[in-house]
Amino acid sequence: MDLTNSKLSVAIVYASVSGNTKELAEDLYQILLTKSVELSFYTIEEFSVSDLFHYDAIAIGTYTWGNGDIPREMRNLYHALESISRKDMTTAVFGTGDSCYPRFCGAVDQFRDMLYVHTNLAATLKVELRPQKHDLQRCRKFVDALLLRASTCSYPQVNSAIRQ
Ligand SMILES: Cc1cc2nc3c(=O)[nH]c(=O)nc-3n(C[C@H](O)[C@H](O)[C@H](O)COP(=O)(O)O)c2cc1C
Repeated sequence: MDLTNSKLSVAIVYASVSGNTKELAEDLYQILLTKSVELSFYTIEEFSVSDLFHYDAIAIGTYTWGNGDIPREMRNLYHALESISRKDMTTAVFGTGDSCYPRFCGAVDQFRDMLYVHTNLAATLKVELRPQKHDLQRCRKFVDALLLRASTCSYPQVNSAIRQ
């Protein structure tokens, strides 16, 4: 295998009910499309946790429910990542929330704390409700941080070539 031709494989997996987190996930997807990566895009319903190992980097998107809670449909993924505990897996978490609630984007905070312990967490992004124009720059920074970390984490000999 010619390792110098390998691209990073990146997945976006997200949950959304009313569309805000979906829109944020799509913004990130569009930015990632401009990068030289193999990209996959899933709703949480489409994603199988057994595929977690197929990716160099995973960006997880979640809205927040209840009182700063992780939505029910995201809990399986949360517990799977918690139990695999792989520091060589680069992750990032993003989400939308409503700052009227006392725990703004509490689900993002909970994922962040768990991913920091059990994976190689590269970036966190919280957006107020529907993403706005000014959030695009934050999205670009989020993607850059994710790819930089993944490129230095998974296969250093391959990815130094990618960065050149
Ligand atoms: C019942 C309910 C509880 C919520 N609780 C929180 C919360 O604790 N913290 C927060 O930041 N947002 C909370 N939200 C706001 C949603 O997370 C926010 O509207 C989000 O953008 C929805 O994402 P979606 O459009 O992708 O479904 C709550 C919304 C509802 C309807």
